Amino acid sequence: MRLNLNLRLAVLSAALTAGTAMAAPYVVCDFEQYAVGDTVPMWNSWGNAHTSVAVVEADPLDAGNKVLHVTLSSWDTYPEFPLPDALSGAALTAQYDQLTFRYYRPASIASAYMALHVYLGSEQLYADNGYPNQGDAGQWLQKAYTLTAATTDGQALRFGYSNNATEYYLDDVTLSVEEDDMPEVEPVFDTSDTTALRTYAARLGKQIGVAVPAWSFAVDDDEDARTAVVGGQFNMLVAENEMKFDALQPERGEFAFDNADRLVRLAQRHGMEVRGHTLVWHSQVPSWLSADGEKNTLGYTRAELLDIMRTHIETVMAHYRGQVVEWDVVNECLSDQQSSSTTGYTLRPSVWATGIGADFIDSALVYAHRADPDARLYINDYSVEFRGKSKADALYNLAKRLKAAGIPLDGVGLQSHWTIGQLDSTKLANNIRRYADLGLNCIITELDIALKDPTSAADYQQQAREYEQVAHIMTEWDNCPHLLVWGVTDDLSWRENAPLLFTARVRPKPAYYGVQHALRTAASLTSGLTRPDAAAGVVRTEYFNLHGRRLSEAPAGLSLRRTTYADGTAVVEKVWR
Ligand code: XIL
Repeated sequence: MRLNLNLRLAVLSAALTAGTAMAAPYVVCDFEQYAVGDTVPMWNSWGNAHTSVAVVEADPLDAGNKVLHVTLSSWDTYPEFPLPDALSGAALTAQYDQLTFRYYRPASIASAYMALHVYLGSEQLYADNGYPNQGDAGQWLQKAYTLTAATTDGQALRFGYSNNATEYYLDDVTLSVEEDDMPEVEPVFDTSDTTALRTYAARLGKQIGVAVPAWSFAVDDDEDARTAVVGGQFNMLVAENEMKFDALQPERGEFAFDNADRLVRLAQRHGMEVRGHTLVWHSQVPSWLSADGEKNTLGYTRAELLDIMRTHIETVMAHYRGQVVEWDVVNECLSDQQSSSTTGYTLRPSVWATGIGADFIDSALVYAHRADPDARLYINDYSVEFRGKSKADALYNLAKRLKAAGIPLDGVGLQSHWTIGQLDSTKLANNIRRYADLGLNCIITELDIALKDPTSAADYQQQAREYEQVAHIMTEWDNCPHLLVWGVTDDLSWRENAPLLFTARVRPKPAYYGVQHALRTAASLTSGLTRPDAAAGVVRTEYFNLHGRRLSEAPAGLSLRRTTYADGTAVVEKVWR
């Protein structure tokens, strides 16, 4: 494709001076500098002799444009493009992570199924060995491939489709930085602090956690960008799906722990605690237990179902004893429609509630406590976060009833799957507070806060503020020791509209800095609590609101006062004025 020369030079110099992940695209070749009939060298990855050729020709659809026509007579043979010194080996993939080009397959070539390989020198940076369908013939298609980091010092880019009898055309070969879907957003919180979330959480004696799937990225490889974020930023892990009933007991009596074990090993390599999710739930159950999870479709008796439930709990908790510190024993047992009932809560239909009866919850907790007396036991649900909402009050009534009956229960989990605008921080704090009064923990187990559709930069900022508020509330309440986010990067979330802390490119979002801000503020306020030497005079008095933001003057009402003394100690107190 034609690109004016000045623009091309500007692109090139921007690319070579930027030196960061944000480099402008670098046009490797658009074939306009060649004459029709010129050839481009071909390289065979096995060093085999071949007769394949690559010739500059007129575009089959636009005679004024020059493109490369590749005719292959042997496998693994690719056109070769030299690169400048500044783009050799790792220097290339430090600046660019994506190869894009346009591709055209003539209608005379029947098969669309071809592998594509990209090499830098003789190091392979991309391989598509599944022979995917490369798309329709007779039209130009835009292609983009993500490159792995180069570790050797190759300098020529060699890439193309592999076949021993085909033809294709190429144009506009370009190196670029893969787009993040996040727009430019003014930061809301400080983005200069490189301290990990888990460092601050540990100082507070708390866990900041994350749900991890075993298959969506390389969880066994600590070099993988997502795995590195999991281990580096978080000190608690929960399996996104791998500890659910259908995953752990796909056939009756046959347990499959392999994938869940891989996640436990990831946590152990990084000194993370593991939460177990989940033992008794109506969803994600195997078909031998119930066809739909809601009804007792196979007609088990109450005794049989109690036995199935007990066997599952005992086997799983024995396997993970000492490795999983706490369990969502019962998940989502409450109905979305809470009408006034004498118990104060209405259960949803499930194979358990239907086949055993309402006391399945009590039995599950008792079995779990016997299976691992050291594990903390939770009941977990959604739409239960804000005090005063009917389902939130139903969960409270259920927990209160269990506690009064002496059933082993350590706390409740608030899933917290929200969209921006739904957080009511007063009602959330009030909800956590009433569990404290019952002697129960109340933790945030599956936080994600989706943006509105269509998304805007302002929404990313609001998302950051809401994450900050939730993390702040967690730091305020001793009975809220854990906050877990339901996934690592937005692209892998079970929900649409960017609800998590990291972008698809594993870059921290404003929301990440919101959580970091809340944790950092709380950690710095609670550090250095040693009382000063009596003789040391006050050097500075500062006031903060309950979100940890510094105030320009002492406010009326409740705030935090930090007094710094000449001997370097500081004391933080809550004060009323
Ligand atoms: C979700 C997972 O994130 C998805 O990958 C899966 O397809 C369905 O389940 N409440 C829960 C979680 O307790 O287990 C759910 O996880 C999300 C809602």
